[in-house]
Amino acid sequence: MKNIRVHLKERSYPIIIGNNSSLGIGALCRKLNIGKDAIIITNSLLKKKFLPKITSSLKQNNFSIKTLLVPDSEKAKSSHYCLSLIEKISRYDKKKQPFIIALGGGVIGDLAGFVASIYKRGIPIVQVPTTFLGQIDSAIGGKTAIDLAIAKNLVGAFYQPKAVIVDLNFLKTLPQRQIRTGLAEVIKYGIIKDKKLFYFLKNNYKKILKLNPQAVNFIVTRCVKIKARIIEVDEREKKGIRTILNFGHTVGHAIESACGYNKFTHGEAISVGMLCASEIAANLNMLKKKDQNQIQKLIELYKLPTTIRKTLINKIMNSLLRDKKFIKSKPRFVLPVSIGKVIVKSDISVQLIRGAIKKYSY
Ligand SMILES: NC(=O)c1ccc[n+]([C@@H]2O[C@H](COP(=O)([O-])OP(=O)(O)OC[C@H]3O[C@@H](n4cnc5c(N)ncnc54)[C@H](O)[C@@H]3O)[C@@H](O)[C@H]2O)c1
Ligand SMILES: [Zn+2]
Repeated sequence: MKNIRVHLKERSYPIIIGNNSSLGIGALCRKLNIGKDAIIITNSLLKKKFLPKITSSLKQNNFSIKTLLVPDSEKAKSSHYCLSLIEKISRYDKKKQPFIIALGGGVIGDLAGFVASIYKRGIPIVQVPTTFLGQIDSAIGGKTAIDLAIAKNLVGAFYQPKAVIVDLNFLKTLPQRQIRTGLAEVIKYGIIKDKKLFYFLKNNYKKILKLNPQAVNFIVTRCVKIKARIIEVDEREKKGIRTILNFGHTVGHAIESACGYNKFTHGEAISVGMLCASEIAANLNMLKKKDQNQIQKLIELYKLPTTIRKTLINKIMNSLLRDKKFIKSKPRFVLPVSIGKVIVKSDISVQLIRGAIKKYSY
C-alpha cells in the first residue's frame, strides 16, 4: 500500500494506493474523524459491483450508511441531480454527522464533490475513484463541477477531499474503452511532465492494455504524484502551473460539448485535443516534427481517436470561443515544446486553431 500525501496545510490529505485499499475505508474514516454517518453516492452498476466491499468495512467501524444513486452517465452532472441529492441528504441529515463517499468515476466524483462543497457550506468527502481516469486525475485536486447546457463544468468549486482511496482492483472490471480513455490522461501526464512515463507507455503498451498489475501500479503512482505536486503549488489555478493539466482540454472540452457528451468519452476528446495543440505548437515552430510524430504515434498505439467529422468544426469553434479557460476571449493554449515539457501561451490566432482542428478532421 502506498500513501501519497497532498500537502495543503489544513486541507492536506492522503491518497492511499493499493490492491484492495478500499477494504480499509472504515478504519481510515474513523481515524480522520470526519463524521458518523456515511452517505455513499454511486450508480446502480457500481453499487452491485463494489458497494458490499465498502459497506462491510464501514459497518465494522460502526458507521451508519445511506446509499444514494444517480444515473450512469454525464447527465448526472447536472443541476437537477445535484439539487435532488441535496434534498435527499437534508432529509437524512436530521441530528446526524454526515460525510460523503463518492464511489465511481469522474462523473460521480465531480458531482458528489460539488454537492459536498455546497451542502451546509461544506461537509467532508472521501473520494473512492473506480475508473482509471478517476484514480489518476479527477479524484485528486479538489476540482468539482456540474455541467450546464451551454458548456461542461461551468458551475463548480475548489473543494479538497479528506482522503482519496485508489483501489487498483476496481480497474479489473472496466471496459476496454474506459481503460483507453484513462490512458489518454496518462499520455497527457507523460507529455506535460514526465518523459520517462511517456517512453514507458510506448514500450509497454501490450502489458498496460492487459492491466498488468506492476505496470498499472507504476503508472497510477507516477500520475498521482505528478498531480499531487502540481496541486500543492497551485491549488486554485492562479499561478499558471495547474493550467498545464489542461493540455489537450481546450479543444477536447469543445469537442465534448459540440458532439454531445456521449459520443466521445472525455479521454477520447482530449486525444484529438492533444493532437490539435501539438499541431499549433509545431506550426509556431515550438515543437519539433519528430516529437509531434511521437505524440501522434503514441495516441494511435492506444487506439484512441485522432479525428473528428468536418461537419463539426464550426460547432467546435463556437463552443471553444466560449471556453472559461480563455482570458478575455483571447485563446490561451497549453503547448508542448518537447516530450515532458509544455508552456502556456495566449493570443493564439483563431485561424491557427481552426487550421489545427481541420487537419484532424475527415
Ligand atoms: N475534477 C477533475 O479534475 C476532472 C478531471 C478529469 C475529468 N473530469 C470529469 O470526469 C468525467 C469523466 O469521468 P470518467 O471517465 O471516470 O467517466 P464516468 O464517471 O462516466 O465512468 C465511465 C463509465 O464506467 C463505469 N465504471 C466506473 N467504474 C467502473 C468499474 N470499475 N468497472 C466497470 N465499470 C465502471 C461507469 O459506471 C460509467 O459508465 C467527466 O465529467 C470529466 O469532466 C474531472
Ligand atoms: Zn481531463
